[in-house]
Amino acid sequence: MTLGIETSCDDTGVCVLRGQREELASRIAGQNADHAPFGGVVPERASRRHQEVLLPLLQEVFAEAGVNNPARELDLIAVTAGPGLMGSLLTGVMCAKGLAQAWELPLIGVNHLEGHIFANVTAFPELTPPFLSLIASGGHTELVLVRALGDYRVLGRTRDDAVGEAYDKVAKLLDLDYPGGPEVDRLAGSGDPGSFAFPVPMKNSDEIAFSFSGLKTAVLWVVRACRQAGADLPGADICAAFQHAAVSALLAKIRLAARRTGVSRVAVSGGVAANSELRRRMALLDDLETYLPPRGLCTDNATMIAAAGYSAWRRGVRSDLSLAPDPSLPLPLL
Ligand code: KG4
Ligand code: ZN
Repeated sequence: MTLGIETSCDDTGVCVLRGQREELASRIAGQNADHAPFGGVVPERASRRHQEVLLPLLQEVFAEAGVNNPARELDLIAVTAGPGLMGSLLTGVMCAKGLAQAWELPLIGVNHLEGHIFANVTAFPELTPPFLSLIASGGHTELVLVRALGDYRVLGRTRDDAVGEAYDKVAKLLDLDYPGGPEVDRLAGSGDPGSFAFPVPMKNSDEIAFSFSGLKTAVLWVVRACRQAGADLPGADICAAFQHAAVSALLAKIRLAARRTGVSRVAVSGGVAANSELRRRMALLDDLETYLPPRGLCTDNATMIAAAGYSAWRRGVRSDLSLAPDPSLPLPLL
């Protein structure tokens, strides 16, 4: 029985996982309302909220999972150790270290990116290495070759903005509600993707790499031109055209990586894996075996951290009470 704790950014997640994939209880306390007035995550606010809600959430999860005596009933504590915001990571890591010491339980620090990879591993028993994993979130856009569980090589990543960050910035340009990704996704549904010819980033490059800041700037020019002309902003059309270009860029590099590596199993996770156009177009890639976790496992959650921690523990990985958060904890590059 693994207690999972996730506090790398602005979602507080706690769960109890039995074995590799039986979720006994899992809770996420989001902070969107706290950060909405600022249009983005305010790190200091995020850490304060984490430390307010972490222990109450833990009690709720134990009650739901039927854990009465954690010291006796739990076997492991897994906590996100990085990458993420330092203040946020500290709240989870310090909590986990305190509990591990008090309850004399083993502790594992989990890489948040490995956690996102495990969202698919825990959702799909049939997903076995080697496979490609695209992590597409607000902080990351990384295409990873999973050679074995625990053996990862980053094939390529973004050179500038993460894809979720581009969604959030486009939403801001259009004065949409925070967080913007889901709003852009929703509006795009009623727009015409052909109404603007936004560039598909890195389309003609043979490199496995992403770039989203040029696309965001292209949207900015259209928004400015409309505003200067005093015209109504065609928000739905802009969202649809932007989304078409962003998703095309992700799919193009997935195909390239599959060709280069000869690996045809592809898993996508991270907040952007909740995107409806990405999900629809992934399902059409019929020469690839594609995996997308249920939406609740796409955005940050503790279940993926517990699953990654449990797997690492079974492979003999151990952390100790000197575990320290690392805001830029990497996965190895190829
Ligand atoms: O994985 P996540 O919860 O946090 C990070 O580790 O970053 O991802 C959050 C990101 C945000 O940028 C959010 O706008 C984006 O995922 N996102 C979406 C959708 N749902 C969340 N982007 C596009 N379409 C969505 N449906
Ligand atoms: Zn994340």
